[in-house]
Formats: sequence, C-alpha cells, structure tokens
Amino acid sequence: MKIVSTEDLDIDSVLEYFSDVVVVPTETVYGLAADIYNPHAVGRIFELKNRPADNPLIVHVSSIEMLNSIIEGPIPEEYTRIMDKFWPGPISLLFKAKDCVNPVVRGGLDTLVVRMPNNKCLLDIIERLGVPIAAPSANISGSPSPTTIQHVKDDFGGKIGLMIDGGPCSVGVESTVVSFIDNKVTVLRPGGVTVSEMEDTLKSEVKMGCNDGGKALSPGQKYRHYCPETPLVLFKGRDLHLKNLIYNYIEKNPRFSRFGIVTHSGVTLEPPEGKLFVFFDMGHGKKEICRNLFGGLRELDGECEAILVLGTDYEDEGLTIMDRLERAASEIITT
Ligand code: TXA
Ligand code: MG
Repeated sequence: MKIVSTEDLDIDSVLEYFSDVVVVPTETVYGLAADIYNPHAVGRIFELKNRPADNPLIVHVSSIEMLNSIIEGPIPEEYTRIMDKFWPGPISLLFKAKDCVNPVVRGGLDTLVVRMPNNKCLLDIIERLGVPIAAPSANISGSPSPTTIQHVKDDFGGKIGLMIDGGPCSVGVESTVVSFIDNKVTVLRPGGVTVSEMEDTLKSEVKMGCNDGGKALSPGQKYRHYCPETPLVLFKGRDLHLKNLIYNYIEKNPRFSRFGIVTHSGVTLEPPEGKLFVFFDMGHGKKEICRNLFGGLRELDGECEAILVLGTDYEDEGLTIMDRLERAASEIITT
C-alpha cells in the first residue's frame, strides 16, 4: 500500500492504479474510487466496503461535457441553476442514466447520481483519466465516514494499492443528494449544501423527500449508517434541559462508569462522583461541527462504555448533523 500526499502527487503515475480502486480526497469525505467503465474495480468497491449490491454509487465528473456523456437530458432549469451556483461542490443530482453506465454502479436502477467534487487534485485526476469515477465514502459500510486518511487506514489497512492524502476534509459530511420530482427539487439525503442555500438560489421551495410511502427514494437511506461500535445515545431538544437528561441517563445506567461525551459550542459537564468523562467538543457553529462530527465519533469509539452526544437544532447544517447522529444512535432521548 502506498500513501501519497496531494502536493507530492505525479498525476501520470496515478493512472495505472485505476486498474483497481484508489482512495481519493474530496471536500466532503474520503472516497473509494473506481473508473466507472472498469467492472473489476467497480466490483471491488462493493466487496471491500461490504456494501449491499442495491445501494448505488455516486459518480464524479470534472466537466459538464463528461456529465452529458453518462446522462439522458433534458436537464431541468433548476438543476442548471444549482450546478452554476454550487459545482464544483457538495451537492449530487439524480439524472436518468445512459445505458453505457454499468448497472452495477447504478445498483440496478435506471437513474444515476452525479456530482463535481471541489478538490483540485481529484478534478485533475478525473480529467486526466478522461472518464467519470464512482466513489462512495471510503469506510466499511455502516461505520462513521472517513474525514482523514488515518480513518481510511483504520478501516481498510493495507488492502488498497494507492491512497491519496489531501489532509482533513474541509466540509466533513457527505454531499446533499437531490432529485427532481413533480417539478420540485427534492432532498433525498441532507448534506453539505443546505436547504436554505438551495432555496435562495432557486427562489422556490425545496421539498424533503426521504420517503415515498415507506419505500426509500434513495436506497442508501434504508441501511444502518455511521455507527461507532460503542453504543451511541443522542440527546436532543431544548438546550436548557439537555444536561439534566444526560445526568438522568447516567443515574439510570449504573453499569456504566466511563462515558464519552460529545458536545459542541463549548458546553461542558462535570462527571458525577465515581464516573469518568472523556470529552470531544465538535466546535462552534454548524460548519465546524460538520467538519468534526465523524472524527469525534471515531475518536471516542472504544474509549468508553457509552458515547453520549448533545444534539443540535435542525436549522441549516443542523439538518445534516442530526440526520447523521440519528442514524448513528442506538438510542435517542428527547426533551
Ligand atoms: O460526498 C459524497 O457524496 C461522498 C464523496 C466520496 O463524494 N460520497 C458518498 O457516497 O457519500 P455514498 O455511496 O456513501 O452515498 C451515496 C448515496 C447513497 O445514499 C445512495 O443510496 C444514493 O447516494 N444514491 C446513489 N445513486 C442513487 C440513485 N440512482 N438513486 C437514488 N439514490 C442514489
Ligand atoms: Mg457512505
């Protein structure tokens, strides 16, 4: 296994590694990348991640020309506005796929989710390859997403030929996934671009569409996600009462003595007598919390008997933060 930093990278030397999978940095999370036209490499993504075959991969392009080579038009005017404003960046759009795209990439669907990542090194690689790359997050399915190369190493060890280290991811949560349903931009997965940022750009309402009468519109949304091995308890509701909820939980669970405490905005707690707290503060402001969220879950995993997390509200990036935390939680306690 070779790890090369983006500054030391010679793009030409990377191309040969695309006969298999390559770990690439993106602004959201690290990706496990394969040339979409290489069935062996695409198959390895599912095998390495232990990913269910019906969970399709996001495809990454470096130009609109490349986008047009894999999707059927017409492109809705709303999509054009989103691409103009946010690409390259953390938003992925659902299109009808051209037949040339391997059905394995699409999880057997006739649609395709595409984005243009905001990472210079990755855009250069895609451009030089001349083909789109499929890249899900570079973690074992179900574990917290990777935002540093160390996280990727922790999950895959030496199983991958080349890992490209671009430093900590600047956004830290995955892209927003949207579809165009009944003439409305509809969020399938909240992510790096917020609903209000999209609404400001579109000057029209964006719908939430995680479910379609119980059938997940986005296959990935039905699977267990982002879970540390240590049980995670999420506390949510009005700030005022959250601390009390945490103390109540500790009192009601006398079998635990060592707690991981994930907070934000400088909130601190004193451990009750005889108990030990290991802290992780995700920082101030929602963008910083997004950047630190997955790293915090990974850092405390295995360091304590239960991870207790102080939730945020659902405004702006709060929707993304709470989506990830609710999926990661083995228990949710609400005021
Ligand atoms: O930020 C990101 O999007 C990262 C980086 C690496 O680019 N990638 C990522 O991929 O998060 P992944 O595989 O972890 O998540 C892909 C999500 C899943 O929830 C999947 O079900 C959904 O996108 N998806 C992909 N293709 C789809 C399709 N054709 N229809 C509905 N949902 C789709
Ligand atoms: Mg993922």
